[in-house]
Amino acid sequence: MPRSGKKFVVQNGGDAEIEVARARGNYVYDSRGKKYIDFVMGWCVGNFGWGRPALRRRVHAFDGPDYVYPGYAYRPWRELAQLLVGLAPDGLTRCCRATGGSEAVELALQAAMLHTGRKKFVALEDAYHGNTLGALSVGDGDDEVRVLSVARLEPPLDRDALDRLEMRLKRRDVAAVIMEPISINLSVLIPEAEFMEGLVPLCHRYGTLVILDEVATGFGRTGKLFACEHYDVQPDLMPIAKAATGGAVGIGGLLLREDLAETLEEDGNVYSTYGWHPLSVDVAITNVRWIKRNQTRLLRQVERMSNYFADRIREMPFEEEPELRVRGLAIAVDVRDEKYAERVAKKCRARGLLLDPQESVLLMLPALNVDRATAKGGLDILEACL
Ligand SMILES: Cc1ncc(COP(=O)(O)O)c(C=O)c1O
Repeated sequence: MPRSGKKFVVQNGGDAEIEVARARGNYVYDSRGKKYIDFVMGWCVGNFGWGRPALRRRVHAFDGPDYVYPGYAYRPWRELAQLLVGLAPDGLTRCCRATGGSEAVELALQAAMLHTGRKKFVALEDAYHGNTLGALSVGDGDDEVRVLSVARLEPPLDRDALDRLEMRLKRRDVAAVIMEPISINLSVLIPEAEFMEGLVPLCHRYGTLVILDEVATGFGRTGKLFACEHYDVQPDLMPIAKAATGGAVGIGGLLLREDLAETLEEDGNVYSTYGWHPLSVDVAITNVRWIKRNQTRLLRQVERMSNYFADRIREMPFEEEPELRVRGLAIAVDVRDEKYAERVAKKCRARGLLLDPQESVLLMLPALNVDRATAKGGLDILEACL
């Protein structure tokens, strides 16, 4: 018998026992009125808190067209694309419209296949890039749904990993390497600089493209606007989504090089019925402009709070000393015991704190503008639940 949250609705894992009624700032309220501090924030969606008045106002006041046919021109599409291109790493000069992260990843895979004439990929072991068949193939999807041929690169991502990768690239049949520049899905896996900075030249030597998936890391999560900025690296393709609209509406996009965009225009298919719906675009423009204007202050605050979280967690009495991986406000505490992680997360929830247990890791993705008092409140609950 499905639990109440899963009646009629198909859901994997997660926490369908929480029935969300409202969300504001750093808090989620369930249908019984219980208030939770949210250290998950929809998994990198609500990067600047829920219910931001500026975004809600745009949603309510929107007076543009209900819909624009994807074959027409629409000025706000151009404005948003220009805004994103202006923030993206050098060389990414165009943007494809998408409804969300998976579609943006699919577009990247499509562009890579068309441009190189190759069908094979390399991805990180156990990665996640979305739920469409291409994305599942480069992710941790079941073998039965794998439609692309994908070789796996195992961490650690260091000099040796570059050598292992080169062995595979030498066959000159790999269209692209796809990975998150800092992998939130692999519990904040942080590649060594030598790996990231060697990756693009190595791939290009063998005619392979590099897709850096910033769907989760984009818009400040790791303390830089995009996680690839932690390194001297310029991807060929960069899918984005999640925090672009802060959750008020949905959107996705693929930033890419000019020549790759031309390939997609000439030989590919970028038609997306609801990709960049006018309302989503309006909210995304408002949100991304605000992030751009306040970038320095916001990222400084991420740095401060990142140190605060790390310092507090280091002093907490876990059963065993955990491994802590932190970049900005992407925080993974590996408590080395899956049952313990689950138990702690459950206790935290009962006391009003939401965090995400992933195997033996307690993953925390708080709002990037979380204030000290709320952060302290959440961390006090965590400490009391150990
Ligand atoms: C790194 C990464 N790429 C792609 C996706 C897929 O995005 P969406 O769920 O918007 O399709 C996700 C979703 O969690 C993700 O974390």
